[in-house]
Amino acid sequence: MFRGKQFREQKKTRRANVVSLGKYMPPDILTNFDLEQMVDTSNEWIVERTGIRERHVVKNGMRQSDLALNASREALARVGWAPTDLDAIIVGTVTPDHIFPSSANALAGKLGAIGVPSWDVLAACSGFMYSLYQGVVTVESGRADRVLVVGAEIMTSIVDWDDRSTCVLFGDGAGVLLLEATEEPCGVIDLEIGSDGRYPKLLHMPGGGSAHPATHETVDNKLHTLHMEGQETFKVAVKTMLNVTQTLLNRNNVKSEEIGVYIGHQANLRIIDAVTKRLRLRPDQVYNNIEKYGNTTSATIPSCLYEAEMKGMIKKGDWVVLVSFGAGLTWGGALIKWGIDPLPVLGDELEAGDSVSENYSDQLKPGRDWQRS
Ligand code: ACO
Repeated sequence: MFRGKQFREQKKTRRANVVSLGKYMPPDILTNFDLEQMVDTSNEWIVERTGIRERHVVKNGMRQSDLALNASREALARVGWAPTDLDAIIVGTVTPDHIFPSSANALAGKLGAIGVPSWDVLAACSGFMYSLYQGVVTVESGRADRVLVVGAEIMTSIVDWDDRSTCVLFGDGAGVLLLEATEEPCGVIDLEIGSDGRYPKLLHMPGGGSAHPATHETVDNKLHTLHMEGQETFKVAVKTMLNVTQTLLNRNNVKSEEIGVYIGHQANLRIIDAVTKRLRLRPDQVYNNIEKYGNTTSATIPSCLYEAEMKGMIKKGDWVVLVSFGAGLTWGGALIKWGIDPLPVLGDELEAGDSVSENYSDQLKPGRDWQRS
């Protein structure tokens, strides 16, 4: 295993620098007030218990790989790379277009990255951190110089719209980053990932795999939707995110007050508040976007990173900490020494979604509508 200790003992000079970021959120918005019309809930309950006010949702058949495509095109354009400059494409997701071929294959095809190795990573809300881990070790090993790391989800495709305890939590979106090999003392300095498979039922989707292939019965019993034991998950999330953060800080002699920006998985604002209070972080050190997007699973961390950089919160030389927690149980964290100047901001042409229309219109048929009929 490439856990942190071994990682440091390699005494390597080759590192993976974060050199670009991209984000894409589908344009349609589902507010808490819309949800009030769908299930027995209230804006007040959702805001108070989760911090979420609205979430972006996919309509009209856009695919998960289309969200990833738009975010990836933006990141590539910001550094002027062609898709074929990439040595690997890694996509963290629990909502791929299909079980196979992988969404990373679909993304590579849509980008025109022909011949570039591409694969999906399945680690629920830690999917992005696991993908980042793979991207970083691939660069550090010398096997790749340039890697695209993606977190993209259509969570609304696996939500039970009759279950008020989960359907209010999730949203759709994509965030990506580009890694490039560097000899400079910057980029991803340390990583920590782990898992504990003893508690699969805290958060899972029972159907669709080989244990419960699709049948009328599995559909009737809603086995193809997300199930969660919220309170227990909440407690484990706080403990685990705190542990991962403290491990990274202690191992690298970084004090919490030295962190420039702290980004935790956006599952619940109360979870992040509990973690950041225990770490004694100031509000100006923490960046959240759960209010606007809800829990976009593997897209929460890269979309926060994108926005924090865009708002000028992250400066060259800053310590950036990313920490996730999710079903599995899985967890992951990264300590990054920010190594780039502010990225260029692109015009509207890549943000409007035009670039995906030609890609999803030729698919077999539109995806499931997110809203109950
Ligand atoms: N609107 C109104 N009432 C609701 C809603 C709702 N949307 N949902 C639940 N309630 C009710 C419950 O029925 C319950 O009512 P009762 O007291 O009459 O029985 C009451 O509110 C309290 O329910 P709790 O489950 O105790 O509410 P809690 O404060 O724990 O919040 C929540 C629930 C938001 C799910 C929280 O537990 C949570 O965020 N858990 C962690 C989620 C998480 O971290 N997920 C992991 C990452 S996701 C991934 O990996 C894909």
